[in-house]
Amino acid sequence: MAQGLKDAYKDYFKIGVAVNNRNVADPDQIKVVLREFNSITAENAMKPQPTEPKKGEFNWEDADKIADFCRANGIKMRGHTLMWHSQIGSWMYQDEKGNLLSKEEFYANMKHHIQAIVNRYKDVVYCWDVVNEAVADSPVYPGRPELRNSPMYQIAGEEFIYKAFEYAHEADPDALLFYNDYNDAEPAKSQRIYNLVKRMKDAGVPIDGIGMQAHYNVYGPTMKEVDDAIKLYSTVVDHIHLTELDIRINEDMGGGLRFNQGQATVSDWERTLQQDQYVQLFKVLRKHKDVIDCVTFWNVSDKDSWLGVRNYPLLFDENYKPKQAYNAVKNFDPKM
Ligand code: G3I
Repeated sequence: MAQGLKDAYKDYFKIGVAVNNRNVADPDQIKVVLREFNSITAENAMKPQPTEPKKGEFNWEDADKIADFCRANGIKMRGHTLMWHSQIGSWMYQDEKGNLLSKEEFYANMKHHIQAIVNRYKDVVYCWDVVNEAVADSPVYPGRPELRNSPMYQIAGEEFIYKAFEYAHEADPDALLFYNDYNDAEPAKSQRIYNLVKRMKDAGVPIDGIGMQAHYNVYGPTMKEVDDAIKLYSTVVDHIHLTELDIRINEDMGGGLRFNQGQATVSDWERTLQQDQYVQLFKVLRKHKDVIDCVTFWNVSDKDSWLGVRNYPLLFDENYKPKQAYNAVKNFDPKM
């Protein structure tokens, strides 16, 4: 019997997890992390705002604790994330009066930030989510930009994305560089993600992979949508990671499917729905093991999840105990 998820999937891809600082300090949680996972992402600690809240004033404490845990345990990290419109100090792109900076000033701020953090962690980080969530959500009407209208985009158009990748590559030529986004299997958005990455490749930008965040739910995406998105992305990159996997049981799924009134308990039906979605998803992922090299769960347990316990999103419950879906994902039939 395989010891943990990482052992069960050793012939397919790494199994990763996003951690907070408690997960790498509490002995019981450390046991789960080390038994189950062989890639680690800092859930928040390496993001632009936590690391450089003010221009030139870096705060490495939380990121160092997680990086040191990984160094001590021989686990490599996914770096998350160098450039994002959220969780970022506004000084990066605007002056004290709220006026957008010039492209030159913004690029100088971005380059300094990216190269400071990439250089600090290049020994333990094997890949970076260089830019996160820069593609516009659906619907995008014909003739409208396919990218999010973030302050960075308003300053420099999509060129800022290219520059972010160039700066990261300059600081660590060995790191694999990813573009990361959500709604990654929604057909129209996956086409826009593909279009962006194709333009970057054609422009000679050093990009290696696409991160599918994979924040899914028991109703969607369909496995055909996931399969189609992976096939599409694999025509433009050699590396696909699922970077933030969770499968929520929406609190109100319509059609009378709800959590038991008031309690955080989950009905057997909802539990089975989630297990089925996880099992079907991992069947699709195993089929694409040639291009998928890491599947990262977003948080260790339901207790840590950004979605809250009531969404029951992960394979470990709020007491860090494996759920029935964990066993179903781990004890798969390799012929399936
Ligand atoms: O660290 C501060 C703390 O000092 C303060 O007391 C507390 C209360 O205000 O806030 C703490 O910061 C919070 C941070 O998580 C760390 O816990 C932020 O408010 C909170 O907004 C932040 O949420 C994170 C969210 O990204 C931010 O957008 C979630 O934990 C994190 O799971 C989530 O992760 C994102 C990925 O990075 C990108 N993809 C989507 C995913 C889910 O939103």
